[in-house]
Amino acid sequence: MHFDHNTNSGIFITFEGGDGSGKSTQVKLLYKYLLENNYPVIMTREPGGTQISEQLRTILLQGNVNKMNAITEALIFLAARSDNWEKLIKPALDSNKIVICDRFQDSTIVYQGICNNININLLNNICNTITNNMLPNRTYLINIDPVIGLKRSMRQDNVDIRFEHKSTEYHKRIQEAYLRIANNNDRYLIIDGNLSIEEINNIIIKDVWKIMGKAISKVTN
Ligand SMILES: Nc1ncnc2c1ncn2[C@@H]1O[C@H](COP(=O)(O)OP(=O)(O)O)[C@@H](O)[C@H]1O
Ligand SMILES: [Mg+2]
Repeated sequence: MHFDHNTNSGIFITFEGGDGSGKSTQVKLLYKYLLENNYPVIMTREPGGTQISEQLRTILLQGNVNKMNAITEALIFLAARSDNWEKLIKPALDSNKIVICDRFQDSTIVYQGICNNININLLNNICNTITNNMLPNRTYLINIDPVIGLKRSMRQDNVDIRFEHKSTEYHKRIQEAYLRIANNNDRYLIIDGNLSIEEINNIIIKDVWKIMGKAISKVTN
């Protein structure tokens, strides 16, 4: 279920895509832009956002790639989602804020469901229990050849690289899965990750203006 812009709720925007596609870069730029234009906005990330979820992030994104099995990993990701949703995202949306989140539910479906073969109905059930069936208003999928993305990701002083150690085939499967769920679904805008940081930022800002047009009275009052 999408948020109804005629009811009292904020705007929920998520970013998806493989490692090094440019999500965190674009989340920060969009956040900065909206803040400078006096919109009520918060930025968060998955896994993470709250104190508990940031601790779970360290467990999930650092250390040996094979340190836990797929179901353990999925449940920790979902536990982190639940805390972030309850304490940060939901209250912000309830007070009509724009929430920008670096990864969300689609990551669960793509990584834990499609790639790790955990039952997708089970995952959707837990996800929908956490969020009471709410989905983002808009999801930006930044699409990049995983070989390029991984090179970018490893170039940074990045410590959260447990998943980067998975095979290129794994990351290719992730990219294909993302494209499959994003194609023909108007919640998504697929953006070419080969464009420059500035070009991508401009595409996103234009699109966010369109989305806010429908809800503008709420965010400016
Ligand atoms: N469009 C782009 N073109 C070239 N480099 C980029 C682009 N977007 C991001 N980068 C660089 O790639 C690296 C990974 O970007 P990041 O935003 O952290 O990706 P993600 O959060 O998707 O893993 C960073 O060093 C960033 O500066
Ligand atoms: Mg990132």
